[in-house]
Amino acid sequence: MLRPRLNPPTDIFPPNPWAIEAVRYVRELVQDFTGQAETMFALSNGYLGIRGIVDEGMPVREPGTYLNGFYEHRPISYGERAYGFPTIGQSILNCPDGTVMSLSVDDEPFTLPGAEILSYRRSLDFRTGTLNRDVAWMTPAGKRLRLRTLRLVSLAHRHLAALEYELTAENAEAEVVIVSELRNDQPLATDTSDPRLAEGFVGRVLHPTGFHAEAMRAILSYRTASSGLALACGMDHVVTADTTLSTRATCDDDHARIVFRGTLAPGQTIRIHKYLSYHYSADTAPDPIRSQVAWTLDRAVEAGFSSILARQHAEVERFWQRADVQVDAGDASNVRLQQAIRWNLFQLMQASERSEGHGIPARGLTGRTYEGHYFWDTEIYVLPFLIYTNPPIARSLLKVRYDMLDSARDRARELRHRGAMFPWRTINGREASAYYAAGTAQYHINADIAFALRQYVEISGDVDFLRRYGAEILVETARLWCDLGFFSDRMDGRFCIHGVTGPDEYTAIVNNNCYTNLMARENMRYAAEIVRMLERDDPDSFASLVRRTGLDPDEPGAWDQAAERMYLPYDERLKVHPQDDAFLDLERWDFANTPEDHYPLLLHYHPLNLYRSQVIKQADTVLAMFLLSEQFTHEAKRRNFEYYDPLTTHDSSLSVCIQSIVANEIGLREKAIHYFYFALAMDLSDIGGNMMHGAHIAAIGGTWLALVYGFAGLRDARGRISFQPCLPEDWNRMSFTLRIRERTLRVELDHAAATYRLLEGEDLTLWHAGQCVRLSSAEPSATRAIRPPIADGHDAEP
Ligand code: BGC
Repeated sequence: MLRPRLNPPTDIFPPNPWAIEAVRYVRELVQDFTGQAETMFALSNGYLGIRGIVDEGMPVREPGTYLNGFYEHRPISYGERAYGFPTIGQSILNCPDGTVMSLSVDDEPFTLPGAEILSYRRSLDFRTGTLNRDVAWMTPAGKRLRLRTLRLVSLAHRHLAALEYELTAENAEAEVVIVSELRNDQPLATDTSDPRLAEGFVGRVLHPTGFHAEAMRAILSYRTASSGLALACGMDHVVTADTTLSTRATCDDDHARIVFRGTLAPGQTIRIHKYLSYHYSADTAPDPIRSQVAWTLDRAVEAGFSSILARQHAEVERFWQRADVQVDAGDASNVRLQQAIRWNLFQLMQASERSEGHGIPARGLTGRTYEGHYFWDTEIYVLPFLIYTNPPIARSLLKVRYDMLDSARDRARELRHRGAMFPWRTINGREASAYYAAGTAQYHINADIAFALRQYVEISGDVDFLRRYGAEILVETARLWCDLGFFSDRMDGRFCIHGVTGPDEYTAIVNNNCYTNLMARENMRYAAEIVRMLERDDPDSFASLVRRTGLDPDEPGAWDQAAERMYLPYDERLKVHPQDDAFLDLERWDFANTPEDHYPLLLHYHPLNLYRSQVIKQADTVLAMFLLSEQFTHEAKRRNFEYYDPLTTHDSSLSVCIQSIVANEIGLREKAIHYFYFALAMDLSDIGGNMMHGAHIAAIGGTWLALVYGFAGLRDARGRISFQPCLPEDWNRMSFTLRIRERTLRVELDHAAATYRLLEGEDLTLWHAGQCVRLSSAEPSATRAIRPPIADGHDAEP
């Protein structure tokens, strides 16, 4: 099931609370580790992402420069088609790579594997937001050189990346040639044995619309054939050298090069600042987009590298002020723990910070797995973090869903439903999932979006968003549920939802998936509540909503009724909530005779083998018990968890974080901690064996969930903030900051007490272990004792 955690060896990757770094170059690891390092050291601002390929461009496993939402259509071919199957997919494109700076010394190319390395350090610095490398080597002729590089993807200017390249000849004269490149290479090869990977394109995908090189600047531009997008990218350079350099620019459709040539005397240095800019647009005329690139480059050159670097530091510092989670485990493993937590948080920042107007792909912008598609991963696993640390970006992500509403209405019509049906996976709002059983059938994404919307509104207090956009999403999704389900005579008039797939993708097309029914119920109840609230308090917004949705006065009543009569499967004998109507009748999976190397099962068994067994890919009913915690008793949580946990393979990275939270809540402390460490190490220890293809952003979001909802015991149903803290025994302290309704709350925990401090805002009421705590500007801080968790339920009303 869970692969062992392989901690990165400390002599190569030493613990450091503010960086992940490799301090030795180990040639033997190149073969195995190049791909993982490209993900581990990837840089992104949520709009532009660049994998951590080495400066020389070789050796490389998966080069990747991605722009969020820059995609091409891809035909989806089926052996046998059926009505409503999507036929046009979308796939994020690899943009021209501008990081490569190849170097020759005395006519010999420099590559790390071929060089005699004297010292080496490569470091992703969480405080500066930069990827730094410092390498010294000796040529076969005994010349010592030192190369320091620094790379950043700007958080302040989302179309900009910048590199510093500093080469010094230490002990002898060296003839050097540095070729700075901007190169268009689409990956063609695809490993078809893993369905999660993105397929490559056959033939040319980016069609050149022009190239231009002048002095040390080059700009390339392209258009896509089918998705109707134009791309331009460019590079420019500023050089300061202790010696005279000759420069020459060459350029064609796919390859721009600026060649710097010169002789370095001992002790002399060349410093090159390279600026890269990427823009894309739905206007396919090349000129405007090329001008955008030129302006970004002008701006960067004018600002200068040190000011760009200073802005980067400032942005990252602001992020840590908002979002850091500090853990003190008081022993040797402490720094490692903090380092892993910060790497995960840093990834969340990289995936989201400048994503405005776009979604968050399942692998962020660190790899092409899942084709750059947006899934429910964002709403359920990442949005809570953003709602509490960066509400404007949370809002932008929900607005992106609103912008997809028309496509979702079309899709609902195509499937003969009322309302709107959001795509399981998409970039442009159209369904791009080819396998309907584990795709389109996951109707729960509609309720997941509604759930996240509610959480955003209640925690941020942004009711305006609800009026302008949210209410419309709620009406259309509630309509979908009302239409999809029916009052079943056989089930005593209960409202049943048939033919859906829940979060667990090893069980498909079932009736009454417990998670789906519960979440649909929430969706319909909330929609009815909000429609009535608008009707009562805001007649203008209500009138506009009616205009936009054609809302019938009877509809909210119908949603209430369906919610009220919602069927929730319950097995009296086992006293558990069956995952769906048929789940408990299935044969249990034969775990004892499943070889370890057959996990993940999806790569070794036909879906039918999985569907006819009690075997679970990821938290499903257990996830419902976390999200809708207040709707289950402690006893139900315990029984359900004990039933489902042994059946769960965690073949999806979205699983262990949730199991950790629920295990913690029901007092299974060791299990909670065990699962937490797996969640935390998902990428850094490459638990799934596929980190090389990109970081698992949902699992990373889940790490934050497991810390804040797990060990600090946050619950926030209906916007009521409560904590039931319970730290792992061998941790001393944990602290973090949350933004709640325009107030800033700092939470500091140890084993004996919790301290709540209101850092900003007039007042805030919260609950600690069931006790009401009122913070105000007069009394901004309160310390409360921590007692062992109470027996039943999360906490009681005071
Ligand atoms: C999981 C889905 C998830 C997708 C993208 C799949 O393996 O089962 O729940 O949305 O990965 O991360």
